[in-house]
Amino acid sequence: MRIPEETVERIRQASDILEVINDFVSLKKRGSNYIACCPFHNEKTPSFNVNPVRQIYKCFGCGKAGDSVRFVMDIENIGYGEALRYLAKKYGVEIEEQEQTPEELLRQNERESLLIALNFAKTYFQELMQNTDEGKSIGLSYFRERGFTNPTIDAFELGYSLDQWDGLLQAGIKRGYNPDMLEKAGLILRKEADGGGKVKTFDRFRGRVMFPIHNVSGRVIAFGARILKTDKNQPKYLNSPETTVYHKSQVLYGIYQAKQAIRQEDVCFLTEGYTDVISLHQAGIKNVVASSGTSLTTEQIRLVARFTPNITILYDGDAAGIKAALRGLDMVLEEGLNLRLLLLPDGEDPDSYVHKVGAEAFKAYIKQHSQDFIDFKASRWLTEAGDDPLKRAEGISDVCASITRIPDLLKRQTLSQRVAQVFHVSEQSVISEINRLLRKQQEQGQKEAERQQHRTETANRQAPPQQPATTDDINALLTSLSDSDADLPDIVIPDAPAKPTTQAKIVQTPLALQEAECIRLLLNHGARELEPGITLCQYVLSELHDIDFQTSPYTLILTLYREAYAQGDILLAADFLNQRVSNEQVIQEQVIHMTTPRYEISDGWQKHEIFVPSEEEIGILADAAYRNILRIKKMLAEQRMSQIQAQMREPTNSTDEADRLMLEFMGMKRVDIEISRLLGTVISG
Ligand code: UTP
Ligand code: MN
Repeated sequence: MRIPEETVERIRQASDILEVINDFVSLKKRGSNYIACCPFHNEKTPSFNVNPVRQIYKCFGCGKAGDSVRFVMDIENIGYGEALRYLAKKYGVEIEEQEQTPEELLRQNERESLLIALNFAKTYFQELMQNTDEGKSIGLSYFRERGFTNPTIDAFELGYSLDQWDGLLQAGIKRGYNPDMLEKAGLILRKEADGGGKVKTFDRFRGRVMFPIHNVSGRVIAFGARILKTDKNQPKYLNSPETTVYHKSQVLYGIYQAKQAIRQEDVCFLTEGYTDVISLHQAGIKNVVASSGTSLTTEQIRLVARFTPNITILYDGDAAGIKAALRGLDMVLEEGLNLRLLLLPDGEDPDSYVHKVGAEAFKAYIKQHSQDFIDFKASRWLTEAGDDPLKRAEGISDVCASITRIPDLLKRQTLSQRVAQVFHVSEQSVISEINRLLRKQQEQGQKEAERQQHRTETANRQAPPQQPATTDDINALLTSLSDSDADLPDIVIPDAPAKPTTQAKIVQTPLALQEAECIRLLLNHGARELEPGITLCQYVLSELHDIDFQTSPYTLILTLYREAYAQGDILLAADFLNQRVSNEQVIQEQVIHMTTPRYEISDGWQKHEIFVPSEEEIGILADAAYRNILRIKKMLAEQRMSQIQAQMREPTNSTDEADRLMLEFMGMKRVDIEISRLLGTVISG
């Protein structure tokens, strides 16, 4: 649902960038600005700057920049609307949610009620553990025995449920919670007592230590609960059932506590258990989560992908661990993530091993022993195969099968070289194996699709909707076109368009640099008069009236200047920052980048509120603009000349056409020489 424009404005007005950012990283005052270590990349010396006057931040290390809204979007990995809601909540700005249907309202209310009930239960379990005799002597002392410190217990909000039938139920009722709601939250159970038809209501979790499960934004959505007695009839861990707020396949235990570290370390360690996450966190290895209670799912992998493209699987070295790792392997590859794997020594899990050897040795162990999936699979096959060529072939086929999962085709090709090296076979044979497998998958997929189509057609006799071509389709096409297994192009087909990255990657051609310089001048000095009555903006736009920029996002920024100028308006940097003219992130980042003087990086941003000081002098500024325009025109002339030269080489030209091209070329050459003269540069060829 859209938030009305005035409300957006009120939220922006109310937000203070220092307060917003301080909730996530602690800022230190440095001159008139504030600095911190960047929360978006890993660094030891702070290069993350916040300017309270302009209400913007910029990291000189990784280039992230923006305003309050952008910061919240990036740090929480949420969308524009959600970030506005976050700020509205923080600053008490009310958002009119008129357009909700009663149904939506009800659903949202139920969600919210469940979350409140779960939060109540969490606090209840925490208090029991800290303040009751049973809690202290059983729950707390158990965690102590496992070596958990108070800060750790607090960070994970650990608790204890009393060994009683309905402690939580009674406490909940006393506090006004509806038993229906507690049941929907998975906290209590209702069962018919034997005979009589009488329904018994009781707590789900009794006499267990409690591990709250948080969603990405830190709200409790479920619990894991460990039994402390040895009881063969009870599961060791009891988990919340699926509820409106808890879908276990979409949740990773510890993601809330880990997300910042995952982003900073740019890798996520994936473990199997609650205690693995907690012990590693306590040891200072905080970029760790667990797929507790389920085997790894695609949704969980996508959750990680919101924070990093790199996953390292840390599983137990037993048979079950290996099996789980192999299963997870293909799924991670399929999502296009980079994967490493590590099996811990037999009999150890990450929790026990980090306790045994300490954090430093643990990290060193990961570094030394983690393998990429090729080595991981190959080392298993090669030890098993020995001299048996058949086993070896089976191994190659197995590794190739994993490679076919990778969506990025360039990556696939590089990897086939690796496989060839590892198994000491020719790259050609690896490529044919990959192609054979792709073809097989394709045939199976086709059969499945035919069955599917048959089903839909008989079901509703309508033409199936046209699907856009996927990588697989293209792949299939190429595979079916090639008749030789050895054809390399099978696996070298264009990749699907890359996900847009947050940071603008601009190709630094000489022309792009001049276009950038032009935009920089407009943003910083557009409204200044180069001579009486002529603003820099007017000068630039009139000189460029028949020229479009060729580099994104400068093309768009120039167009925005033109449109505004046609309305009699000269855009300022602030117009871009408050997203008045465009809410594209690349543009915001570019604008901040260009209005932040370069040399202040080392000097600490604050001292010079003035931009490049020499440009304060109007003569120097006018000269800069003049030379910039000349350089752009010179480069365009040169571009045109090389186009003409290419055209002239084409044999199909008529004499007339050739003459016309020659004339145009000479005209361009004259322009080029004239500009060079004006610029005072030497003519090169
Ligand atoms: P483990 O049995 O390896 O337990 O199960 P653990 O994490 O090492 O726990 P401790 O050290 O004995 O306390 C790994 C994970 O599988 C899930 C839990 O999430 C557990 O952390 N699990 C295990 C269950 O959900 N139910 C069970 O009965 C057992
Ligand atoms: Mn364990």
